[in-house]
Amino acid sequence: MGAADMTQQSGRIWVMGGRPLNGTAAIPAAKNSVLPLLAAALLCRGPVRLRAVPRLSDVECSLGLLRGAGCAAYWQGADIVVAGMPSNSTLPGETAAQMRASILFCAPLLARLGRAETSLPGGCNIGARPIDLHLEGLARMGAKELDAVAGKLVLAAPGGLHGADITLRFPSVGATETLLLAAVCARGTTVLRGAAREPEISDLTEFLNRCGGRIEGRRGLSGCDFSPLPDRIFASTLACAVAAAGGRVELTGCPPALYAPVLEILEQMGCTVERGADRAEVARFGRLYGAGRVFTGVYPGLATDAAPLLAAAMLCAEGESSIEDVIFERRFGCAEGFERLGGRVKRAGRVLSVGPLPESGLHGAALTAPDLRGGAALVVAALSARGKSLVEETRHID
Ligand code: UD1
Repeated sequence: MGAADMTQQSGRIWVMGGRPLNGTAAIPAAKNSVLPLLAAALLCRGPVRLRAVPRLSDVECSLGLLRGAGCAAYWQGADIVVAGMPSNSTLPGETAAQMRASILFCAPLLARLGRAETSLPGGCNIGARPIDLHLEGLARMGAKELDAVAGKLVLAAPGGLHGADITLRFPSVGATETLLLAAVCARGTTVLRGAAREPEISDLTEFLNRCGGRIEGRRGLSGCDFSPLPDRIFASTLACAVAAAGGRVELTGCPPALYAPVLEILEQMGCTVERGADRAEVARFGRLYGAGRVFTGVYPGLATDAAPLLAAAMLCAEGESSIEDVIFERRFGCAEGFERLGGRVKRAGRVLSVGPLPESGLHGAALTAPDLRGGAALVVAALSARGKSLVEETRHID
């Protein structure tokens, strides 16, 4: 992608903004699919190959967890290969604490070794993010939580996991993944009601089925060669960047249906979107209008991860917008950075109200990334701002 000037150094991103974006970007595999797929590799006897995986810090962290569990896990070009069965039920503590998705590695260890120990998950500070739904579901399948020191989680299922009829009171993506991973190797059939239906869940079930599991219950899995689905949030990020900074960008390798709500809102705001089977071209040359009131939801609603990114585009509109995240209570940690750039925003609980772009536009500023999507939203807003911005503490964006 051309025109804008961005430099990245460890922990910092400099942005020279105020210039339109032009070019083509290939959308990489989805982080939120790759992480559960790497956890699923713990269930497989044969080698697993995941094709064309982006080198993100959470992916490296997952490789650390797999190695800690006793598997071989390594890069082969852009692919990841995982081989060998887990032999150690204790996940490396420091690595596990870095990433919320480390909880996903527990169910496979329980299924394989009858025990799992991890540090309680860290990750982005966007809300409470409890793991009660994971634990309640696993308990229904025969897992017990053992006493452990603070910050640790130890689960045991000495008699093995068994199928159960489980209803989730909220369609949590992570809990659905945990329970799928547990169920696929449990004795008997599991019925999961109220499950999440995000595309990343379908990717995981497809992977498990390809490895010889039936999601109605079964024992050991073989490995397989798998291309994880494209990253709809990454595509949303670039689409919002074009809306904010202007220009025309083609996003390839990702069906626009996966991020349809984002594209539709951007069209309402004055962008043009041309859709193909697995590409979209997003353009904005004229003015941007306010979006009115927008809400996130579970799939196929507007993704919570896209909320701060859309908010960054809303900053550049002539009219008013408001966006409410119904999933996480602290989604808009980027609000302070938006203000530093000159944006008119007001945060009240889960709602971010965005006023019209000031006549002088946005200007470069020194910013701190509050979390992954909030940090990306600051980069997007900085691309539309005149002059130079510096975004610090970008480890979540990495
Ligand atoms: C995943 C995604 C994240 C995305 C989110 C919602 C990964 C690695 N991350 O996160 O990018 O924003 O889905 O689409 O895939 N909850 C509970 N108890 C639980 C689990 C969740 O109350 O045991 C609540 C959470 O506090 C939150 C809501 O459920 O309010 C959604 O969380 P969940 O769907 O589990 O998100 P994650 O799997 O953490």
